[in-house]
Amino acid sequence: MAEILDGKAVSKKIKENLKKEVENLKQKGIFPKLAVIMVGDNSSSKIYVRNKSIACKEVGIEYEEYLLDEKIKMDELLDLINKLNQDDSIDGILLQSPIPKGLDINVAFKTIDPKKDVDGFNPCNVGKLCLGQDSFISCTPYGIIKLLEEYDIKIEGKDAVVVGRSNIVGKPMMQCLLNRNATVTICHSKTIKLERVTKKADILVVAVGKPKFINKDMVKEGAIVIDVGINRGEDGKICGDVDYDEVSQIASYITPVPGGVGPMTVAMLMNNIVRAAKMKEKDKR
Ligand code: GUN
Repeated sequence: MAEILDGKAVSKKIKENLKKEVENLKQKGIFPKLAVIMVGDNSSSKIYVRNKSIACKEVGIEYEEYLLDEKIKMDELLDLINKLNQDDSIDGILLQSPIPKGLDINVAFKTIDPKKDVDGFNPCNVGKLCLGQDSFISCTPYGIIKLLEEYDIKIEGKDAVVVGRSNIVGKPMMQCLLNRNATVTICHSKTIKLERVTKKADILVVAVGKPKFINKDMVKEGAIVIDVGINRGEDGKICGDVDYDEVSQIASYITPVPGGVGPMTVAMLMNNIVRAAKMKEKDKR
């Protein structure tokens, strides 16, 4: 039976440490602040944003929310981002994705000042991650790395397989694992005989958004299985991309859903905001 990688517990510890750090910063007159932009009325996004706002409160980070109408024009969105870029009281800017179809999220991400890009989606930060340079790292992959580190799971030399090639999770995950000297394979919807690849994984990260997509026949005995999915299963319950009941029988470690990767994503966002606030202060000196 696999050991559970308890993202909820680890994220709590990270947030407690950050809270102390924020208290110290406030003594020095530094008040970390996040601005969140949400466009339209996506029900999943509302839950994610709410979780982020609760975490900010827990850690002592100031929080501002901009809820924009789905009919907003690109110019207006960019104007708001530019205004927040200029606002010295704001340390981090987060544009919740997805945004409505008529708007170009890539242009929006590119417009966020790389120094305030706490999601790590600006091409400047993505490029730095690829080059192995210090950057803001996308929160989900960064959280997964921190979770593995917390359990002393070695990444170097391992065969890591990432299923899903999104810009938000799959691609930066591949890069994070590669930067830590894993041998990385990335699979996607066009991969032929997926189980042929996933079965070779020492570390298997799954981010496809399909309930219970990975079953035990696709996983190597003793693998470390990381489930990024948050889906509603046929029974109406929240479930991951991995069939937990089956796969936990043969994996060595596994993340639960909920309580695995999700809380780690939020904790790393808090980490990135505090870091942005400290960087801003250092730049002023
Ligand atoms: N949509 C789904 N996950 C994320 C995330 O981590 N950040 C942002 N901005 N949007 C998302």
